[in-house]
Amino acid sequence: MKRFSKLFVLALVLTLVVSMFAACGGGGSDEGEEAAGTVDIGIVLPTKDEPRWVQDETRFQEALASTDYSVEILFSQGSSAKEKENVDALIAKGIKTLIICPQDGAAAAAAVQAAKAEGINVISYDRLITDTDAVDYYVTFDSIAVGAAQGQYLIDNAKGAGEPLYLYAGAASDNNAFLFFEGAWTVLQPKIADGTFVIANSSEAEALKDKATLTRDEMSKIIGQVTTNWDFNEAKNKAESHLTAADDAMKGDVAILAPNDGTARAIADAFAADSAVTSYVVTGQDAEIASVQYIIDGKQSMTVFKDVRTLVKDSIDMAVSLLEGSTPATTGSYNNGAIDVKAKQTEVVVVDQSNVKAAMVDSGYYTAGEFTGL
Ligand code: GAL
Repeated sequence: MKRFSKLFVLALVLTLVVSMFAACGGGGSDEGEEAAGTVDIGIVLPTKDEPRWVQDETRFQEALASTDYSVEILFSQGSSAKEKENVDALIAKGIKTLIICPQDGAAAAAAVQAAKAEGINVISYDRLITDTDAVDYYVTFDSIAVGAAQGQYLIDNAKGAGEPLYLYAGAASDNNAFLFFEGAWTVLQPKIADGTFVIANSSEAEALKDKATLTRDEMSKIIGQVTTNWDFNEAKNKAESHLTAADDAMKGDVAILAPNDGTARAIADAFAADSAVTSYVVTGQDAEIASVQYIIDGKQSMTVFKDVRTLVKDSIDMAVSLLEGSTPATTGSYNNGAIDVKAKQTEVVVVDQSNVKAAMVDSGYYTAGEFTGL
Protein backbone atom coordinates (compact mmCIF):
# COMPACT_ATOMS: atom_id res chain seq x y z
CA MET A 1 0.00 0.00 0.00
CA LYS A 2 2.78 2.38 1.03
CA ARG A 3 4.80 1.42 -2.03
CA PHE A 4 1.73 1.93 -4.20
CA SER A 5 1.13 5.49 -2.93
CA LYS A 6 4.83 6.36 -3.37
CA LEU A 7 4.62 5.22 -6.99
CA PHE A 8 1.42 7.15 -7.40
CA VAL A 9 3.02 10.35 -6.08
CA LEU A 10 6.05 9.82 -8.32
CA ALA A 11 3.80 9.38 -11.35
CA LEU A 12 1.87 12.51 -10.41
CA VAL A 13 5.06 14.56 -10.03
CA LEU A 14 6.36 13.29 -13.37
CA THR A 15 3.08 14.19 -15.09
CA LEU A 16 3.21 17.66 -13.58
CA VAL A 17 6.84 18.21 -14.64
CA VAL A 18 6.12 17.01 -18.18
CA SER A 19 3.08 19.27 -18.52
CA MET A 20 5.03 22.24 -17.09
CA PHE A 21 7.68 21.70 -19.78
CA ALA A 22 5.02 21.45 -22.45
CA ALA A 23 3.43 24.70 -21.25
CA CYS A 24 6.79 26.48 -21.39
CA GLY A 25 7.64 25.23 -24.88
CA GLY A 26 8.08 28.08 -27.36
CA GLY A 27 7.39 30.75 -24.79
CA GLY A 28 3.77 30.47 -25.73
CA SER A 29 0.49 30.74 -24.01
CA ASP A 30 -2.80 29.01 -23.95
CA GLU A 31 -4.78 26.09 -24.98
CA GLY A 32 -4.25 22.75 -26.67
CA GLU A 33 -0.57 22.35 -25.90
CA GLU A 34 -0.64 18.60 -25.27
CA ALA A 35 -0.26 15.91 -27.89
CA ALA A 36 0.26 15.93 -31.65
CA GLY A 37 -2.95 16.40 -33.62
CA THR A 38 -4.66 18.47 -30.93
CA VAL A 39 -4.04 21.97 -32.27
CA ASP A 40 -6.06 23.20 -35.27
CA ILE A 41 -4.81 26.76 -35.66
CA GLY A 42 -1.28 27.92 -34.82
CA ILE A 43 -0.58 31.61 -34.28
CA VAL A 44 2.94 33.06 -34.26
CA LEU A 45 3.52 36.68 -33.24
CA PRO A 46 6.82 38.63 -33.39
CA THR A 47 7.54 39.69 -29.81
CA LYS A 48 6.05 40.30 -26.39
CA ASP A 49 8.42 43.24 -25.92
CA GLU A 50 6.22 45.64 -27.90
CA PRO A 51 2.72 46.45 -26.54
CA ARG A 52 1.28 46.24 -30.05
CA TRP A 53 1.71 42.45 -30.21
CA VAL A 54 0.55 41.84 -26.64
CA GLN A 55 -2.59 43.72 -27.71
CA ASP A 56 -3.00 41.27 -30.58
CA GLU A 57 -2.55 38.28 -28.25
CA THR A 58 -5.25 39.63 -25.90
CA ARG A 59 -7.65 40.23 -28.78
CA PHE A 60 -7.00 36.74 -30.16
CA GLN A 61 -7.74 35.24 -26.74
CA GLU A 62 -10.99 37.22 -26.48
CA ALA A 63 -12.08 36.22 -29.97
CA LEU A 64 -11.12 32.58 -29.57
CA ALA A 65 -13.01 32.07 -26.33
CA SER A 66 -16.09 31.25 -28.40
CA THR A 67 -14.59 28.93 -31.04
CA ASP A 68 -14.53 25.16 -30.93
CA TYR A 69 -11.20 24.97 -32.69
CA SER A 70 -8.11 24.55 -30.57
CA VAL A 71 -5.48 27.24 -30.90
CA GLU A 72 -1.96 27.86 -29.69
CA ILE A 73 -0.23 31.27 -29.70
CA LEU A 74 3.58 31.46 -29.68
CA PHE A 75 5.93 34.47 -29.64
CA SER A 76 9.21 34.68 -31.57
CA GLN A 77 10.84 37.26 -29.30
CA GLY A 78 12.45 39.15 -32.16
CA SER A 79 14.27 36.08 -33.50
CA SER A 80 13.71 34.44 -36.88
CA ALA A 81 15.35 31.26 -35.54
CA LYS A 82 12.88 31.13 -32.65
CA GLU A 83 10.08 31.81 -35.14
CA LYS A 84 11.12 28.78 -37.23
CA GLU A 85 11.24 26.63 -34.07
CA ASN A 86 7.75 27.82 -33.16
CA VAL A 87 6.40 26.96 -36.60
CA ASP A 88 8.09 23.53 -36.50
CA ALA A 89 6.58 22.88 -33.05
CA LEU A 90 3.11 23.78 -34.35
CA ILE A 91 3.57 21.60 -37.43
CA ALA A 92 4.46 18.72 -35.10
CA LYS A 93 1.21 19.33 -33.24
CA GLY A 94 -0.74 18.85 -36.45
CA ILE A 95 -2.03 22.40 -37.13
CA LYS A 96 -4.07 22.82 -40.29
CA THR A 97 -3.82 26.60 -40.53
CA LEU A 98 -0.93 28.88 -39.55
CA ILE A 99 -1.49 32.58 -38.82
CA ILE A 100 1.91 34.24 -38.70
CA CYS A 101 3.21 37.78 -38.29
CA PRO A 102 6.85 37.53 -39.32
CA GLN A 103 9.71 38.98 -37.36
CA ASP A 104 11.57 39.42 -40.65
CA GLY A 105 9.44 39.17 -43.79
CA ALA A 106 12.06 37.51 -45.98
CA ALA A 107 13.57 35.22 -43.33
CA ALA A 108 10.13 33.80 -42.49
CA ALA A 109 9.88 32.25 -45.97
CA ALA A 110 11.70 29.10 -44.80
CA ALA A 111 9.28 28.59 -41.92
CA VAL A 112 6.16 28.91 -44.05
CA GLN A 113 7.62 26.74 -46.80
CA ALA A 114 8.01 23.98 -44.19
CA ALA A 115 4.36 24.47 -43.19
CA LYS A 116 3.17 24.49 -46.80
CA ALA A 117 5.05 21.25 -47.47
CA GLU A 118 2.81 19.64 -44.82
CA GLY A 119 -0.34 20.92 -46.52
CA ILE A 120 -0.93 23.65 -43.93
CA ASN A 121 -2.69 26.85 -45.03
CA VAL A 122 -0.59 29.94 -44.35
CA ILE A 123 -2.07 33.34 -43.47
CA SER A 124 0.39 36.24 -43.25
CA TYR A 125 -0.82 38.49 -40.43
CA ASP A 126 -0.26 42.29 -40.49
CA ARG A 127 3.24 41.97 -42.01
CA LEU A 128 3.68 40.33 -45.42
CA ILE A 129 6.03 37.37 -45.77
CA THR A 130 8.09 38.07 -48.88
CA ASP A 131 9.86 36.20 -51.68
CA THR A 132 8.00 32.90 -51.40
CA ASP A 133 4.92 31.31 -52.95
CA ALA A 134 4.13 29.56 -49.65
CA VAL A 135 1.70 32.27 -48.44
CA ASP A 136 -1.99 31.70 -49.15
CA TYR A 137 -3.56 34.85 -47.72
CA TYR A 138 -2.68 38.17 -46.11
CA VAL A 139 -4.77 40.05 -43.53
CA THR A 140 -3.65 43.59 -43.02
CA PHE A 141 -4.45 47.21 -42.37
CA ASP A 142 -4.07 49.72 -45.18
CA SER A 143 -0.43 50.48 -44.43
CA ILE A 144 0.06 53.04 -47.20
CA ALA A 145 -2.93 54.91 -45.70
CA VAL A 146 -1.20 54.77 -42.28
CA GLY A 147 1.87 56.57 -43.65
CA ALA A 148 -0.24 59.01 -45.66
CA ALA A 149 -2.26 59.91 -42.54
CA GLN A 150 0.94 60.54 -40.59
CA GLY A 151 2.35 62.77 -43.35
CA GLN A 152 -0.93 64.63 -43.77
CA TYR A 153 -1.10 65.32 -40.04
CA LEU A 154 2.30 66.99 -40.16
CA ILE A 155 1.17 69.09 -43.14
CA ASP A 156 -2.10 70.10 -41.46
CA ASN A 157 -0.21 71.20 -38.35
CA ALA A 158 2.77 72.90 -40.01
CA LYS A 159 3.50 76.30 -38.49
CA GLY A 160 4.79 78.10 -41.60
CA ALA A 161 7.50 77.94 -44.23
CA GLY A 162 10.84 76.22 -43.76
CA GLU A 163 9.85 74.05 -40.81
CA PRO A 164 12.48 71.42 -39.92
CA LEU A 165 11.23 67.90 -40.67
CA TYR A 166 12.76 64.92 -38.88
CA LEU A 167 12.13 61.57 -40.57
CA TYR A 168 12.15 58.20 -38.82
CA ALA A 169 11.19 54.75 -40.13
CA GLY A 170 10.50 51.19 -39.00
CA ALA A 171 12.72 48.13 -39.48
CA ALA A 172 13.95 47.44 -43.01
CA SER A 173 13.23 43.72 -42.44
CA ASP A 174 9.51 44.61 -42.14
CA ASN A 175 7.74 45.18 -45.46
CA ASN A 176 5.31 47.48 -43.65
CA ALA A 177 8.12 49.95 -42.93
CA PHE A 178 8.33 50.55 -46.70
CA LEU A 179 4.56 50.90 -47.08
CA PHE A 180 4.36 53.39 -44.19
CA PHE A 181 7.26 55.41 -45.59
CA GLU A 182 5.86 55.31 -49.12
CA GLY A 183 2.49 56.62 -47.89
CA ALA A 184 4.13 59.41 -45.91
CA TRP A 185 6.54 60.41 -48.68
CA THR A 186 3.75 60.67 -51.24
CA VAL A 187 2.07 63.44 -49.27
CA LEU A 188 5.15 65.05 -47.71
CA GLN A 189 7.32 65.31 -50.82
CA PRO A 190 5.27 68.10 -52.48
CA LYS A 191 5.48 70.02 -49.21
CA ILE A 192 9.24 69.57 -49.10
CA ALA A 193 9.41 70.71 -52.73
CA ASP A 194 7.34 73.86 -52.01
CA GLY A 195 9.47 74.81 -48.99
CA THR A 196 6.94 74.13 -46.24
CA PHE A 197 9.37 71.58 -44.76
CA VAL A 198 13.16 71.33 -44.74
CA ILE A 199 14.58 67.83 -44.15
CA ALA A 200 16.66 67.98 -40.99
CA ASN A 201 18.19 64.56 -40.47
CA SER A 202 18.64 62.54 -43.66
CA SER A 203 21.12 63.33 -46.45
CA GLU A 204 19.62 60.46 -48.48
CA ALA A 205 16.11 61.96 -48.26
CA GLU A 206 17.58 65.36 -49.08
CA ALA A 207 19.21 63.92 -52.20
CA LEU A 208 15.87 62.44 -53.31
CA LYS A 209 13.63 65.34 -52.30
CA ASP A 210 12.57 66.21 -55.87
CA LYS A 211 11.29 62.70 -56.62
CA ALA A 212 7.55 62.31 -56.09
CA THR A 213 7.73 58.52 -56.23
CA LEU A 214 10.59 56.51 -54.81
CA THR A 215 11.72 53.04 -55.86
CA ARG A 216 12.18 50.40 -53.17
CA ASP A 217 15.97 50.83 -53.46
CA GLU A 218 15.65 54.58 -52.95
CA MET A 219 13.45 54.06 -49.91
CA SER A 220 15.98 51.52 -48.62
CA LYS A 221 18.66 54.21 -48.66
CA ILE A 222 16.55 56.61 -46.58
CA ILE A 223 15.23 53.91 -44.26
CA GLY A 224 18.80 52.63 -43.78
CA GLN A 225 19.69 56.07 -42.45
CA VAL A 226 16.66 56.84 -40.27
CA THR A 227 15.50 53.39 -39.16
CA THR A 228 14.49 52.84 -35.56
CA ASN A 229 14.39 49.07 -36.09
CA TRP A 230 11.11 49.40 -34.17
CA ASP A 231 13.32 49.70 -31.09
CA PHE A 232 12.63 52.38 -28.45
CA ASN A 233 16.28 52.73 -27.43
CA GLU A 234 17.50 52.94 -30.99
CA ALA A 235 14.84 55.59 -31.67
CA LYS A 236 15.85 57.59 -28.60
CA ASN A 237 19.58 57.39 -29.37
CA LYS A 238 19.04 58.39 -32.98
CA ALA A 239 16.85 61.36 -32.03
CA GLU A 240 19.40 62.52 -29.46
CA SER A 241 22.27 62.33 -31.91
CA HIS A 242 20.24 64.16 -34.57
CA LEU A 243 19.53 66.92 -32.07
CA THR A 244 23.17 67.11 -31.08
CA ALA A 245 24.16 67.47 -34.74
CA ALA A 246 21.43 70.02 -35.57
CA ASP A 247 22.07 73.76 -35.29
CA ASP A 248 19.42 76.08 -33.87
CA ALA A 249 17.97 76.79 -37.33
CA MET A 250 16.92 73.12 -37.40
CA LYS A 251 15.11 73.44 -34.05
CA GLY A 252 12.34 75.85 -32.96
CA ASP A 253 8.98 74.50 -34.17
CA VAL A 254 9.59 71.09 -35.70
CA ALA A 255 7.68 68.27 -37.39
CA ILE A 256 8.60 64.64 -36.70
CA LEU A 257 7.53 61.61 -38.73
CA ALA A 258 7.73 58.79 -36.18
CA PRO A 259 6.59 55.42 -37.54
CA ASN A 260 4.79 53.97 -34.52
CA ASP A 261 3.84 54.68 -30.92
CA GLY A 262 6.78 53.09 -29.11
CA THR A 263 9.29 55.00 -31.20
CA ALA A 264 7.14 58.16 -31.09
CA ARG A 265 7.25 58.27 -27.28
CA ALA A 266 11.03 57.73 -27.25
CA ILE A 267 11.62 60.39 -29.91
CA ALA A 268 9.13 62.82 -28.32
CA ASP A 269 10.94 62.51 -24.97
CA ALA A 270 14.25 63.37 -26.66
CA PHE A 271 12.79 66.43 -28.41
CA ALA A 272 10.97 67.58 -25.28
CA ALA A 273 14.29 67.53 -23.42
CA ASP A 274 15.97 69.93 -25.90
CA SER A 275 15.46 73.54 -24.80
CA ALA A 276 16.03 74.86 -28.34
CA VAL A 277 12.95 72.96 -29.53
CA THR A 278 10.00 75.32 -29.00
CA SER A 279 7.30 72.89 -30.09
CA TYR A 280 7.06 69.59 -31.92
CA VAL A 281 4.36 67.71 -33.78
CA VAL A 282 5.02 63.97 -33.73
CA THR A 283 3.12 61.15 -35.39
CA GLY A 284 2.53 57.62 -34.12
CA GLN A 285 0.66 54.43 -34.87
CA ASP A 286 -1.08 51.61 -32.98
CA ALA A 287 -3.01 53.51 -30.29
CA GLU A 288 -1.02 51.83 -27.54
CA ILE A 289 -2.31 52.64 -24.06
CA ALA A 290 0.87 54.56 -23.18
CA SER A 291 0.54 56.69 -26.32
CA VAL A 292 -3.14 57.36 -25.77
CA GLN A 293 -2.03 58.75 -22.40
CA TYR A 294 0.74 60.77 -24.14
CA ILE A 295 -1.90 62.24 -26.47
CA ILE A 296 -4.15 63.15 -23.54
CA ASP A 297 -1.11 64.76 -21.87
CA GLY A 298 -0.10 66.65 -25.05
CA LYS A 299 3.22 64.82 -25.36
CA GLN A 300 2.40 62.91 -28.58
CA SER A 301 0.36 64.67 -31.29
CA MET A 302 -1.49 61.80 -32.95
CA THR A 303 -1.67 58.08 -33.45
CA VAL A 304 -3.13 55.94 -36.18
CA PHE A 305 -5.63 53.60 -34.57
CA LYS A 306 -5.60 50.13 -36.04
CA ASP A 307 -8.53 48.21 -34.60
CA VAL A 308 -6.82 44.92 -33.85
CA ARG A 309 -10.19 43.32 -33.15
CA THR A 310 -11.01 43.56 -36.86
CA LEU A 311 -7.69 42.07 -37.94
CA VAL A 312 -8.06 39.24 -35.46
CA LYS A 313 -11.63 38.54 -36.55
CA ASP A 314 -10.66 38.59 -40.24
CA SER A 315 -7.82 36.14 -39.71
CA ILE A 316 -9.90 33.78 -37.59
CA ASP A 317 -12.78 33.90 -40.07
CA MET A 318 -10.27 33.12 -42.80
CA ALA A 319 -8.76 30.23 -40.82
CA VAL A 320 -12.20 28.78 -40.08
CA SER A 321 -13.29 29.06 -43.75
CA LEU A 322 -10.16 27.18 -44.74
CA LEU A 323 -10.73 24.51 -42.07
CA GLU A 324 -14.25 24.11 -43.40
CA GLY A 325 -13.07 23.85 -46.99
CA SER A 326 -14.47 27.13 -48.33
CA THR A 327 -12.72 30.08 -49.97
CA PRO A 328 -12.20 33.12 -47.70
CA ALA A 329 -13.41 36.54 -48.81
CA THR A 330 -10.65 38.95 -49.90
CA THR A 331 -10.54 42.58 -51.00
CA GLY A 332 -7.44 42.68 -53.22
CA SER A 333 -3.88 41.41 -53.38
CA TYR A 334 -0.30 42.31 -52.47
CA ASN A 335 2.73 41.28 -54.48
CA ASN A 336 5.31 39.73 -52.16
CA GLY A 337 8.14 39.58 -54.70
CA ALA A 338 7.20 36.04 -55.77
CA ILE A 339 3.42 35.98 -56.14
CA ASP A 340 0.30 38.11 -55.71
CA VAL A 341 -1.05 37.17 -52.30
CA LYS A 342 -4.82 37.49 -51.90
CA ALA A 343 -5.49 39.97 -49.12
CA LYS A 344 -8.19 41.28 -46.81
CA GLN A 345 -7.48 44.89 -45.89
CA THR A 346 -8.84 47.08 -43.08
CA GLU A 347 -9.03 50.87 -42.83
CA VAL A 348 -7.43 52.97 -40.09
CA VAL A 349 -8.54 55.97 -38.00
CA VAL A 350 -6.52 59.07 -37.08
CA VAL A 351 -6.67 59.90 -33.36
CA ASP A 352 -5.52 63.09 -31.68
CA GLN A 353 -6.64 65.14 -28.68
CA SER A 354 -9.83 66.18 -30.47
CA ASN A 355 -11.27 62.64 -30.73
CA VAL A 356 -9.17 60.54 -28.35
CA LYS A 357 -11.98 59.96 -25.85
CA ALA A 358 -14.59 59.16 -28.49
CA ALA A 359 -12.34 56.88 -30.55
CA MET A 360 -10.49 55.04 -27.79
CA VAL A 361 -12.79 54.99 -24.76
CA ASP A 362 -16.39 55.73 -25.75
CA SER A 363 -15.95 53.14 -28.53
CA GLY A 364 -15.28 50.47 -25.89
CA TYR A 365 -11.74 49.74 -27.10
CA TYR A 366 -10.19 50.81 -23.79
CA THR A 367 -11.78 51.73 -20.47
CA ALA A 368 -11.65 55.21 -18.93
CA GLY A 369 -9.92 53.78 -15.84
CA GLU A 370 -6.82 53.03 -17.92
CA PHE A 371 -6.13 56.77 -18.28
CA THR A 372 -5.75 59.92 -16.22
CA GLY A 373 -6.88 63.41 -17.24
CA LEU A 374 -9.41 62.26 -19.83
C1 GAL B 1 4.48 46.92 -37.94
C2 GAL B 1 3.08 47.00 -37.49
C3 GAL B 1 2.90 48.19 -36.62
C4 GAL B 1 3.96 48.27 -35.54
C5 GAL B 1 5.32 47.82 -35.97
C6 GAL B 1 6.28 47.53 -34.83
O1 GAL B 1 4.65 45.89 -38.82
O2 GAL B 1 2.20 47.08 -38.58
O3 GAL B 1 1.59 48.20 -36.12
O4 GAL B 1 3.56 47.60 -34.40
O5 GAL B 1 5.30 46.73 -36.81
O6 GAL B 1 6.07 46.30 -34.26
